[in-house]
Amino acid sequence: MGIGVSGWRLANAVARSGHLGVVSGTSLDTLLIRQLQDGDRAGHLRRAIAAFPDGATGEAVLRRWWQPGGRAAGQPYSLLPLPTATPDPARERLQVLAAFVEVWLAREGHASDIGINLLTKVRLPILPTLHGAMLAGVRWVLMGAGIPKHVPAALDELAGRRRATLPLDVTGATTARFVSFDPADHWPESGPPLLRPRFLAIVASHALATMLARKSSGRVDGFVVEAPTAGGHNAPPRREGGTNARGEPRYGCDDEVDLEALRRLGLPFWLAGGAGRPGALAAAQAVGAAGIQVGSLFAFCRESGLAEGPRRAVLDAIRAGRLDVFTDPRASPTGYPFKVLRGAGVPEAGTDRVRCCDLGYLRETYQREDGGLGYRCPGEPEAAWVQKGGRREECAGRRCLCNGLLANVGVGQLRDGDLELPLLTAGDDVARVRELLQDRDDYSATDVVDYLLATA
Ligand SMILES: Cc1cc2nc3c(=O)[nH]c(=O)nc-3n(C[C@H](O)[C@H](O)[C@H](O)COP(=O)(O)O)c2cc1C
Repeated sequence: MGIGVSGWRLANAVARSGHLGVVSGTSLDTLLIRQLQDGDRAGHLRRAIAAFPDGATGEAVLRRWWQPGGRAAGQPYSLLPLPTATPDPARERLQVLAAFVEVWLAREGHASDIGINLLTKVRLPILPTLHGAMLAGVRWVLMGAGIPKHVPAALDELAGRRRATLPLDVTGATTARFVSFDPADHWPESGPPLLRPRFLAIVASHALATMLARKSSGRVDGFVVEAPTAGGHNAPPRREGGTNARGEPRYGCDDEVDLEALRRLGLPFWLAGGAGRPGALAAAQAVGAAGIQVGSLFAFCRESGLAEGPRRAVLDAIRAGRLDVFTDPRASPTGYPFKVLRGAGVPEAGTDRVRCCDLGYLRETYQREDGGLGYRCPGEPEAAWVQKGGRREECAGRRCLCNGLLANVGVGQLRDGDLELPLLTAGDDVARVRELLQDRDDYSATDVVDYLLATA
């Protein structure tokens, strides 16, 4: 769960309980440099950086970003340049290191597997992030938010420490474009081959699963089948069905996954979305699934990366029965529906935020008239978006997910003295946390596992 919600602490705790802990791989470079600017007081990041195979890379990152005493009052975070497709060796090394740190800490102190989740749409950091995760021994890679058809072959190449390539989606492109990453450009002394993690594609339809099983560039090891009740982003409805009275996308029978068709593919699959309740695992296994993937219940537990203030506010609101989950068809610049958690009384990054695009992870790459590449996001200032050829209507209702999600995990930017506001998300079933809490005022990842394994 991104950005940083399923961070290394949560994944580590889930793995210790004997299940698969998955770290979010989104925006790890910014997350690392912000935590370093905040001082890394407990020293966890520096401990992981010291374990990175190339000491010079770790030292360069610490020299540039670590502020031993943290930021001065009122000091905003220093930023990375906006990401582009032009190769930037220092940034690539930072991305490799950041993914290494996250997976290394998630794996520390136990022998269970750790996975990493990446968004296919956020294309530019994928290859260095995968390489860093593999250097730290990641065993599973889970990717949705797009069609990750080319990732399996990239994993094969990276396992051999060879150049890996992915197509770059460019709106209006007249020629095919690619991004590539070659570990040897950074570390010519090649080490032994790395373990090739198993690859799970996150899908919302059996048609996509079938296509991926048959036409991917290499081995797909299984699927996570995510229902539109899941937290975070959702796949849009397959058939345009308008919105319900609350303005949420309307899903219909076309959106139900044909599990029989999925079973025929002969690959394991896990069910996600609304599976966070006792009995759901057995029910999933009864229809042929290998297991379940649960997010919302873990997102608000003690080990979650969520900042303590919003996390506590959500727990209070759950106890008071005040929470509401709204599937916002417009909020995300990706164009995918995004679940927004309301009612916790946490001031929220809304559409009235003064627009400013300074992180740029969700920018769309487009071909400019001069043939070069341009980058734009419907969440950036409207005039800039329109000047880059975007349609003004596209901007309506868009929020800045990059800044909002970083604020969720306590590393929001200070802008003219004001903190960027959070944008909380959870699945439709988040209210089940109440049942799990019983009369406690907090709970752990192990409590979630116990709750899920309790007899229905
Ligand atoms: C706070 C939050 C953030 C999430 N972020 C991501 C993400 O970055 N990538 C992703 O593939 N899924 C993400 N998800 C979805 C989860 O990985 C999982 O599939 C989902 O939460 C399962 O359904 P549930 O919410 O009903 O438990 C997120 C879910 C939550 C609650």
